[in-house]
Amino acid sequence: MIDRLVPDWVAVSEARFDTGEEGLFPAEIEVIGTAVAKRRAEFSTVRQCARRALGRLGVPPVPILPGPRGAPQWPAEIVGSMTHCAGFRAAAVARAGQVAGIGIDAEPHEPLPDGVLKLVARDEELVQLAELGSRHPHVHWDRLLFTIKESVYKTWFPITGEWLDFSGASVRIDAASQSFTARLTVPSPIRCNIELAAFHGRFCVADGLVASAIVLPAERRLSASATIG
Ligand SMILES: CC(C)(COP(=O)(O)OP(=O)(O)OC[C@H]1O[C@@H](n2cnc3c(N)ncnc32)[C@H](O)[C@@H]1OP(=O)(O)O)[C@@H](O)C(=O)NCCC(=O)NCCS
Repeated sequence: MIDRLVPDWVAVSEARFDTGEEGLFPAEIEVIGTAVAKRRAEFSTVRQCARRALGRLGVPPVPILPGPRGAPQWPAEIVGSMTHCAGFRAAAVARAGQVAGIGIDAEPHEPLPDGVLKLVARDEELVQLAELGSRHPHVHWDRLLFTIKESVYKTWFPITGEWLDFSGASVRIDAASQSFTARLTVPSPIRCNIELAAFHGRFCVADGLVASAIVLPAERRLSASATIG
């Protein structure tokens, strides 16, 4: 799912089944120790995915602990993202020299629960979802918008260290190319030394899932630093 949404120099590993807690580091066990079984399973499997993906970049196995606001703490010089939902876990990582940010998200391909869309969508997005729904009624566009916004947040937060609410990005979906642009509606914090105007990403709908991914190239950080820093 995710590997078809990102350039081939981004290392991706996915799992459809949980395989136990093998390979967890003591510090990870400490974090997850008292959690319910479902949370332990997703936490463990997605970290197995992350370590496999890191291995493809030549990075030896390390603990991947949740940092501020739950963002994963990657080894030095690595940028990455993780996602889990029923029946799917995935991690994507790349060298910081190549990317400034990665955000991946997968969700079941089902309508959002009642009342959620109005919390997630901006007015112009509601108009767009109605148009998309009339042209492609088999796709749950509300869930797609949701996964895109989760990918936006997972890209945004590690760079900025700031919360972003659902109105903080205005998403334009291109059904034909299975891509999207998320225009950020809030300024980037000055201290993050990069002006994040928009994220471009790709999505797919397959195997009962909807997934999205954003890979923000590192040139963006370099050029922004040159301009702002
Ligand atoms: C954090 C959040 C994005 C996670 O998304 P989710 O669909 O609930 O969960 P997923 O299973 O796909 O992803 C969970 C993983 O996201 C990662 N994650 C959690 N917080 C994160 C953060 N602040 N920044 C980056 N990644 C984060 C973690 O790796 C987590 O897995 P782990 O706890 O096992 O380490 C979501 O719970 C959230 O808080 N959303 C509100 C903010 C938002 O979406 N704003 C919209 C901006 S337009």
